[in-house]
Amino acid sequence: MSTTQPEGDGTVRRGFSTRAIRAASRAPRVDQSPTTVPIYLSATFAAGDADELSEVSALRVPGYSYSRIGNPTVTALSDAVAELEGAEAGFAFATGMAAIHGALVSLLRAGDRLVATRTVYGSTRSLLTSILASFGVDVAFVDATDSGAVEDALAAAPTRVLYAETIANPTTNVVDHAALAEVAQCHGARYVVDNTFASPYVCRPLELGADLVVESATKYLSGHSDAMAGVVCGARPLIDEVRRVQIDTGATLEPLAAFLVLRGVQTLAVRMERHAQTALALAAWLERQDGVQRVAYPGLPSHPQHAVAARQFRVGGGMLAVELEGGREVGPAFIDALSVPELTASLGSVHTMVVHPPTTSHRQLDDAGLAEAGIGPGLLRCSVGLEDLEDLIADFDQALGVVRGSAVGTGSGSRPGAGSGSRPGTGSGSRPGAVPATAS
Ligand SMILES: Cc1ncc(COP(=O)(O)O)c(C=O)c1O
Repeated sequence: MSTTQPEGDGTVRRGFSTRAIRAASRAPRVDQSPTTVPIYLSATFAAGDADELSEVSALRVPGYSYSRIGNPTVTALSDAVAELEGAEAGFAFATGMAAIHGALVSLLRAGDRLVATRTVYGSTRSLLTSILASFGVDVAFVDATDSGAVEDALAAAPTRVLYAETIANPTTNVVDHAALAEVAQCHGARYVVDNTFASPYVCRPLELGADLVVESATKYLSGHSDAMAGVVCGARPLIDEVRRVQIDTGATLEPLAAFLVLRGVQTLAVRMERHAQTALALAAWLERQDGVQRVAYPGLPSHPQHAVAARQFRVGGGMLAVELEGGREVGPAFIDALSVPELTASLGSVHTMVVHPPTTSHRQLDDAGLAEAGIGPGLLRCSVGLEDLEDLIADFDQALGVVRGSAVGTGSGSRPGAGSGSRPGTGSGSRPGAVPATAS
């Protein structure tokens, strides 16, 4: 039965459902600018006429038609990160891996060669060796902290892309962007950098000569472990190619996630300052403890690339790597003995997170792959959060005590105090030892 009825004046009054859909889809006109970017939670945007829809859909005129092609909240995030990275343009993706995939696929064709640093995030290594290689990309690895070795690798065969991480996951090795960008340019390769461990507050690779910067915005940019996103930044013609790949592969960022990352970006500087201050103090303290074989933190003078970090970084970042005496058994036992960090495998959050890369972030690598990447069996990766330094030191201190004692390999595996809020060893409030106030 039709619900459409003629009005007394002859106009047709539409049915209830038609009126409800139209009435509830009408956005109010807003003449004053909102002070936060609205969440445009709409898959579709209506054009004025068919011609405009066609022009906007084909990217011939600016505008929005369909959220896989473009969404205003997502554009706001892309533009904000591009500005902070010192880039002409940026494009946001659903995750960091989608951003890395989009950037690389925009540059590579079957038969091309890519040279990557041997220490990269596990999924990135897998993307290169399992996925891109299966489409005919020739992948070679090199120690990118050695610019001479990179020069040799690029001289060995024509290379389309040189790929590195500003601070390598998980070893915290630091590459010299200015030197690598120059080598890449001399050999006609594009230099692509994953800046996730640093964030644009700590380092801006494009200003040091990189062609594209990729970043998991799931980490420091959002900062609260509540959103997943990725961003690619660079010169506009390169980003236009990246966008073309994304439109047809579809790793679209949700507007709500874009909003959450935008909120995080506003406090990036204060968070990174505090992450770095606590990480430096914790690293300096750890270096002096029994049972700790090696600590790698770019802000420490003992870091092998400290001088490069001092030149390129504003602060030392929030990531450190620790090798405990006792090898593979000890790392997971130490993690189980901690109670302040969240037992999870991400980074760049308000929460401190300690992981054992061979069994989490780099689980895709076999023993040979781990050795090639410089990841020892007992290596731990620590993303230092925003908790109080005294609580972290007390917690790390008691966990070191547990693994130094007889508990390794015999304990139940339960985390003392986890969930109960108790923090073993806290209470003294003392800050052991003098530590430098700021990182390089
Ligand atoms: C250095 C680095 N790059 C990229 C990624 C991928 O980010 P996402 O999890 O947002 O895809 C990660 C994830 O841990 C990472 O550590």
